[in-house]
Amino acid sequence: MSNACAFAIQALDAFDAPRIAAHLLRLAPEDRSARFAAGLVTDTTICRYVGSMRFGHDALFGLVDANAQVVGLAHGCVFEVQGRSRIEAAFSVDDGLRGLGLGTRLMRALDAFASVRDMAAVVGLCASRNLAMRRIFERAGMQLTRADDEVHAMRCLQPLTGHGPVLSGRSGKLACRG
Ligand SMILES: CC(C)(COP(=O)(O)OP(=O)(O)OC[C@H]1O[C@@H](n2cnc3c(N)ncnc32)[C@H](O)[C@@H]1OP(=O)(O)O)[C@@H](O)C(=O)NCCC(=O)NCCS
Repeated sequence: MSNACAFAIQALDAFDAPRIAAHLLRLAPEDRSARFAAGLVTDTTICRYVGSMRFGHDALFGLVDANAQVVGLAHGCVFEVQGRSRIEAAFSVDDGLRGLGLGTRLMRALDAFASVRDMAAVVGLCASRNLAMRRIFERAGMQLTRADDEVHAMRCLQPLTGHGPVLSGRSGKLACRG
């Protein structure tokens, strides 16, 4: 039985590309589809994806085991909306290590990354049947919106200046500053 504490979370850089690829290539076809929101995800697609990672720009955190193997990955893709950064979160954990809270730990690492950089929001996307991923988003305080068979998750972050979120539009829904 694996102990969740036996895994460290590390920020990854370009030197880690081979062990990131090894982790993603271990994912079963259905997990690849869930992770990349795509039909068939081939080995070539995964290698191309790893080759295009923006180390030093995006958030890339790995769960690393005692043998220095990457057994889980959080990729927070940074993008700009109206001059402020947001992060789009995507996760994967090795099949045999699920249900131990590792995905939740990766989500916390991305949250911390976004907060420290004063980002406007954390967003995510998963299939509506992906109950584990939905639960992770929920526990991170994200608001979930269902659109057909997808779930969009979003949480606005408080600006470090101390100003709170704003209410906007006729619906009065919470909107992110910036
Ligand atoms: C989604 C994924 C990253 C979750 O990783 P994980 O390490 O198993 O997540 P956790 O152990 O932190 O579990 C998260 C929550 O989901 C719950 N959960 C796990 N599997 C579940 C399932 N099959 N059905 C319902 N809930 C489930 C857990 O109980 C936990 O809830 P809790 O905090 O209330 O106890 C992992 O399943 C995975 O890699 N899937 C394939 C790729 C993928 O779908 N990525 C998401 C797209 S971005």
